[in-house]
Amino acid sequence: MKEKDKKLTDIIDGMSLEDKALMLTQYPIDSICGNKEIVTGCWDMDGMTNDMIMRVGTVLNVANGETADRIRAIRKENGIDDPLMFMLDVIHGYRTIFPIPLAMACSFDTELVEECARIAAVEAAADGVDATFSPMVDLARDARWGRVMETAGEDPYLGGEMGKAYIRGYHNGGLACCVKHFAAYGAAEGGRDYDTTDVSERNLNEHYLRAYCECVKEKPEMFMSSFNLLNGKPLLAHPELTVDKLRDEWGFNGVLISDYNAVRELNVHGYAATPRDCALTAFNAELDIEMCSPCYANNLPDLVREGVVDEKSLDEKVYRVLKMKDRCGLYDIDKSTDTQKRDKITLCEEFRAAAKKAEERSCVLLKNDGVLPLKKSANIALVGPFADEKYIFGHWASTGRADDVVTVQQGIERTLGRTVESEKGCSYDLLSDDESGFDAAVRFAQNSDVIVACVGEHMYNSGESHSRADIALPKVQTALLHRLKTLGKPVVLVVFGGRPLALTDVLPLSDAVLYAWQGGTECGSAIASLLYGDAVPSAKTVMSFPRSSGQCPIYYNHFQTGRPRASGKPAVLSGDICTVGYDDEYNDPLFPFGYGLSYTTFDYSDLKLDKAKMRRDGKITATVTVNNTGDRDGTEIVQWYIRDKFASVVRPVKELKGYERVELKAGESKTVRFEITKDTLAFFTDGGAFDAESGDFDLFVGGNSRDCLQTGFALVD
Ligand code: BGC
Repeated sequence: MKEKDKKLTDIIDGMSLEDKALMLTQYPIDSICGNKEIVTGCWDMDGMTNDMIMRVGTVLNVANGETADRIRAIRKENGIDDPLMFMLDVIHGYRTIFPIPLAMACSFDTELVEECARIAAVEAAADGVDATFSPMVDLARDARWGRVMETAGEDPYLGGEMGKAYIRGYHNGGLACCVKHFAAYGAAEGGRDYDTTDVSERNLNEHYLRAYCECVKEKPEMFMSSFNLLNGKPLLAHPELTVDKLRDEWGFNGVLISDYNAVRELNVHGYAATPRDCALTAFNAELDIEMCSPCYANNLPDLVREGVVDEKSLDEKVYRVLKMKDRCGLYDIDKSTDTQKRDKITLCEEFRAAAKKAEERSCVLLKNDGVLPLKKSANIALVGPFADEKYIFGHWASTGRADDVVTVQQGIERTLGRTVESEKGCSYDLLSDDESGFDAAVRFAQNSDVIVACVGEHMYNSGESHSRADIALPKVQTALLHRLKTLGKPVVLVVFGGRPLALTDVLPLSDAVLYAWQGGTECGSAIASLLYGDAVPSAKTVMSFPRSSGQCPIYYNHFQTGRPRASGKPAVLSGDICTVGYDDEYNDPLFPFGYGLSYTTFDYSDLKLDKAKMRRDGKITATVTVNNTGDRDGTEIVQWYIRDKFASVVRPVKELKGYERVELKAGESKTVRFEITKDTLAFFTDGGAFDAESGDFDLFVGGNSRDCLQTGFALVD
């Protein structure tokens, strides 16, 4: 045994059963020091005495170095030597807030994501945080689900790439991290957060588990189990996932932590009758840390004494927690907050600049009939509930502050170097029907050259527990746009959302649409740069934009049916029957996965393969010429997709296999390459093996998942 390991096993040898159970228990920081910082669920002490709470091994929701220091001191005074580990949801920034992860993924820029995660980690670590509960790599196919904002969207491959980038960034910045929520939490029925999931083993392996599995390669310290029922059992009753898959097959040897109160919720689900049963179920699923419920603390010691639970297994779990603390250096240094250093780096210019760049690369230009970029001399009318709103930075902004945020109005003022007025017109409240501000907004816009309308959903209408049944723009905002349209002026929509909203009704009321998501501290300055052409849009959406809520779930990598509807049109328009589709809605989304415009245009030509057939040990190199055909420099995100035409199980119509951000000067052409090997073509075959099958394949390349050049090749034995 290595020296370090012995150090840890010695500690374990000196622990009582009670202390071991408490090492596996995590409580919020407020329960220790009475500070109410952040609470992400309900909790009560439920049999935990003050002394027990004082002795827990890890704590969540610290968001302040001084508080962390105070708690360390209180524990020392009470004779507790073990270093407490402080955890927090640092999801898209700590004090400098970056765009929501869904937006960041639209940059297809893993280096940028890594750098933003590093900055978040640097700020958080300087303020007493040891670990973050991020990245979230749940697959998001249903925009009604509030938590799509935390994901990288609907593609499993991109999800894995983004997840790994976050982990690298956190590690570089000095933070431990946690991949969540294992597993299939994103498949909630009806898009209702926390709701039941029913996912076949094939769908799990192919789609829902891919990103989690990929993340293991970057050695995250923790995995978090999810709240949901999966195929009839709560996640913590699925040892075939948490043990066989995660630990044995994927080789994850870090800490498995529950979600908030989820062990106790085994009872609420109707699975475990008593707290003791809850503890035992979770223990057998190899759960290490129980977050915010006391089933382990109150029951494990007796379960060991009664011989129901083996103390060796308990020690293994404790060991994993100590090992994580050791990996974070907690046994080597006496931590205390360097407030001077913290205050110097927090929200510094360099970090703000990174936040601005991130939002510039995250905003998706969905429509532009030539009105953008705006001329700096144009007389704009800035209207809408988000025109001068600071709450545009995103729901999971941990310790972000609205006061730090640059609004769209402020951003435009900075860009133009003069003051600008704005008029709200209406509220952003989802159910508001108050049109009393419309007249003022219309009067305000009357003499302008162009209207810039900042509309969308409020950041607290997405995120955890904020699912929506109707994801159209709130009615009052649509009504405002109808009134503004009567002025006959060009209308630019800047849309805020934690999800792709269904924009069908408002698209005809606009001449351009810039989808800003929720863009962090520098949201307004980035939007202004994009509106005025100081920055050129390059992002591509990573979730299909539904035409209507009824289309959800909708995703590009679906299966072909036996009765596809060639027209894709509603049956009442096309007369198509006995084919898949709706009577009253199109089949395709309003904007497909991978879609986004620029201020320039790109042309794809000359798609070639160096050979048409490949052996299993061979490779094919595909090339395509991408030409910037406009008069501005720009960046195109080139996307490669594959379809396996016939296989032992039906393959999706397209699957993203590669992408590249390609910078092109006006008029410039570049040859972009993509290598195909057997691994590119592998999937879970009918026998269950992850392998490629011989046969014919389609290869697609383009600037979105719909409009592609296409060729074919074969894999031969
Ligand atoms: C969320 C997790 C989060 C945890 C701790 C839960 O409600 O589902 O994503 O990490 O709270 O705050």
